[in-house]
Amino acid sequence: MNNTTKLSFQRDGTPYSEQFNDIYFDSKSGYQQSEDIFIQGNNISNRLKRSDGHFVIAETGFGTGLNFLLTLQAYKQLQEQNPNTDFGKLSFISVEKFPLSKAQLAKSLKALPQLSIYTDLLLEQYPKFDVHSNQIKEFNASFFNNQVSLKVIINDATQGLSTIKSSKTGLVDAWYLDGFSPANNPEMWSEQLFSQIGRLSKNQASVTTFTVAGFVKRRLQQIGFRVEKKSHNGDREQILTGVFQQNPNTTKGYQLRPNIVKPQHVSIIGGGISSACAAYALTKQGIKVTLYCKDNALAQGASSNAIGALYPLLHQQDDDISLFYQQAFWRAKELYTEVSDQGFDFPHSWCGLLEVAYKESIVKRQEKFAELANWPTELIHKIDAEQASDIASITLTNGGLFMPNAGWIAPQPLVNQMINAAKATGRLKVNTDVLVNKIEQVHPIEDQTQKEKVHWRLITNKGNFDASVLVVCGGAEIIDADFIKQLPFTSVQGQVTSMKTNSRINTLSTVICHKGYLTPTSSASQHQGIHCIGATFKKNSVSTIATKEDDEFNLNMLSNCLPDLAKEINWTEQDISSRKARLRCMTPDHMPIVGAMPDIQKHIETYPHLAKDKNWKYNQAAPVVKNLYVMMGFGARGLCSAPLAADILSADLCGIPYSVNNEMLFNLSPNRFVIRDIVRRKI
Ligand SMILES: Cc1cc2nc3c(=O)[nH]c(=O)nc-3n(C[C@H](O)[C@H](O)[C@H](O)COP(=O)(O)OP(=O)(O)OC[C@H]3O[C@@H](n4cnc5c(N)ncnc54)[C@H](O)[C@@H]3O)c2cc1C
Ligand SMILES: C[S@@+](CC[C@H](N)C(=O)[O-])C[C@H]1O[C@@H](n2cnc3c(N)ncnc32)[C@H](O)[C@@H]1O
Repeated sequence: MNNTTKLSFQRDGTPYSEQFNDIYFDSKSGYQQSEDIFIQGNNISNRLKRSDGHFVIAETGFGTGLNFLLTLQAYKQLQEQNPNTDFGKLSFISVEKFPLSKAQLAKSLKALPQLSIYTDLLLEQYPKFDVHSNQIKEFNASFFNNQVSLKVIINDATQGLSTIKSSKTGLVDAWYLDGFSPANNPEMWSEQLFSQIGRLSKNQASVTTFTVAGFVKRRLQQIGFRVEKKSHNGDREQILTGVFQQNPNTTKGYQLRPNIVKPQHVSIIGGGISSACAAYALTKQGIKVTLYCKDNALAQGASSNAIGALYPLLHQQDDDISLFYQQAFWRAKELYTEVSDQGFDFPHSWCGLLEVAYKESIVKRQEKFAELANWPTELIHKIDAEQASDIASITLTNGGLFMPNAGWIAPQPLVNQMINAAKATGRLKVNTDVLVNKIEQVHPIEDQTQKEKVHWRLITNKGNFDASVLVVCGGAEIIDADFIKQLPFTSVQGQVTSMKTNSRINTLSTVICHKGYLTPTSSASQHQGIHCIGATFKKNSVSTIATKEDDEFNLNMLSNCLPDLAKEINWTEQDISSRKARLRCMTPDHMPIVGAMPDIQKHIETYPHLAKDKNWKYNQAAPVVKNLYVMMGFGARGLCSAPLAADILSADLCGIPYSVNNEMLFNLSPNRFVIRDIVRRKI
């Protein structure tokens, strides 16, 4: 191999490849571009923080080492910001066919004085390549007391990667694909290169590249990456990012989510927070959406409560449920802030939420909770009665667990504003007063002339409507519909009572949870001077008629749990302002359901052996009812969980990366109950 590097230097001192007619890095913004694309694009710093002790980055084209130096800098900055934390080992593997000589490297990196400390560290160990001989096959270097290691394999990218050993579960956590552009260097971006990338990738490995060439995107998809074009540099340029997910070689067949060609149009049944989040996410992805809601206005079901608390469900242990709700909570806050920042504001306050230790068993549980310290303090921490009183601005005789980032939202305005934000894309149409009674499968051949094939006909009180892809977000009121009733949803009625404020409670400045809850007064005009107390919990009830008895239940619950406070507030029946009963849509495991509707009979036929051996490896992908999706079962936490569920739905439909891992995806998948029932021999 002739690995002579034909290099010239531009006027600003940056290197230029005569061989590929391409730059190594942009003279003006090269540093920032590489930082954005590779370091930020792969979320390196945050992932190093969460790394299990060894993080591996692989790169095609070492060139001047700019990407490596930026990685070294990111690692160092992390160490400096967290001097007592061990971030584990970082291995950086790069493959370079035409290495720069030491002098060329030194001269090139002079153009990047910001990195001079790291450049010096690299130059100390960079070999003196004799560019006319092929003696050096690779070089290794190490940094920061061997915490970071560098291996540069001197070879063609594909051949170099093929020499790397890897276990079946892969080796690489993040890929920097940085050979010259495919137009200038088509040989490197070969199919074989992508096979090697697939072989070496761990589940959830990320990839970023500056090229958005269609064939690069397709090849990444073929080997199991879910990819997405992202704007970079203030919308001017696009880059490609991806995550290695749902790898058919390592994922159980029934956990594989179906691939679908990104639809141009999606129909949604619903009108609550679930539909609003789905409509917002899909329209942002460029999909046209039509919403069908049975009521004469949006948010008349469970999402119509005056006030809802936004907080995660957290157990002592970081179990599946808590991990989901933790992630969902941060995502919900991010999304609601994004919507509000666009000018679509709604009454809310991130005033924190206190889970009061109102009885001895809870005091003990909370002590254990604090002792285990499984969660960061910004999520939840223990406080005593004095601190609780300070935070709540009222006298409390008990301490508790405080979630400083939680708070309350007025769900009805939230839903309406999210819908307005989705409408602002010009892609959302809302049809209220449309009750979907039935859906019928349509044979696509019938409508061959249409741009997008029709798969569903919605039979409604206002006539029939066609749909290509249908998402059911109908909450508890739709669970008995034929097309959904095979899923194990149940309805639990809850009544909230709105109470007039008085001078003893109007200063309350955080949400209080006991067995029930008590909210601060809202700034929403229609609820000004009102506190919400609740809520009742009537299993399998489908009644939405609110009663005085349930108001009494709510008042008694407050008196029983927080007697001193209740006595101080001294609410009577006369202080009741209004009442509302609505239905929570529950699942057996308290996690929502999002994804394609499973074909249950075909599941039973496809995976029979799971009844004898739950670990039996089936490769066959889960059989589903095509083009029918479900996003329901938000129980008592829809405000927290709907945004993340909508991201998953949008990834299902658009082929983009999932923001959760395979395990969590299956924990949310509609077919999880079918698989559990087969394993438990219930069906
Ligand atoms: C008393 C109570 C208190 C709660 N408190 C909180 C809280 O503090 N924090 C929190 O996060 N969550 C809380 N929740 C839960 C939260 O309200 C729900 O999880 C959430 O509103 C569910 O949203 P959704 O969109 O799935 O369902 P919904 O809001 O019920 O929306 C379903 C929509 O589907 C439409 N629909 C149904 N069937 C059809 C059909 N056949 N055709 C056309 N349209 C149809 C309905 O009109 C409705 O618009 C509470 C719930 C209750 C009942
Ligand atoms: C744009 S430069 C890389 C920039 C580099 N990552 C940096 O930080 O400076 C592209 C690099 O890919 C290398 N290259 C080109 N074709 C290659 C191939 N087939 N295999 C391995 N490396 C290759 C080039 O020699 C060059 O160093």
